[in-house]
Amino acid sequence: MTKTELPDLSVGELSRRSGVPASALRFYEDEQLIRSRRTAGNQRRYRRDTLRRVTFIRMSQRVGMPLSTIREVLGLLPDDRTPTRVDWDRISQCWRNDLDERIRQLEQLRDQLSDCIGCGCMSLTKCRLANPGDQLGRVGPGPQRLPDHRAEGYA
Ligand code: FES
Repeated sequence: MTKTELPDLSVGELSRRSGVPASALRFYEDEQLIRSRRTAGNQRRYRRDTLRRVTFIRMSQRVGMPLSTIREVLGLLPDDRTPTRVDWDRISQCWRNDLDERIRQLEQLRDQLSDCIGCGCMSLTKCRLANPGDQLGRVGPGPQRLPDHRAEGYA
């Protein structure tokens, strides 16, 4: 039996092979990240290359990519095909830049956090984590984090 003659996978088989719970696979399908066809008995069947697609999704999630970004990238592949090794090379290079940027932001946060350790003031004037760059001051006066403070006469 050649590879192309192998039957499609049930949700249980795909779950077992990928290590991803069936509930997560159904969620991926709801999110249009993977597709299935239905049998006469209304059971899901996945093409075998869905396994690679699921691996791609999991690896992408592991580096912190949101599902919306993963869906976008998968949507760029012609004919809805599964990412190949060449695709992954290209995509992972782009995501490396994104990761570098997130690492830079996290390092910045870490450095700001050291000012807060043991402090607990959460001051909107002093604390760089509670109000970075006094962004809330630019929005307007009053407690900007309470969305309806103006309606209650606090403005
Ligand atoms: S909690 Fe006091 S400086 Fe951040």
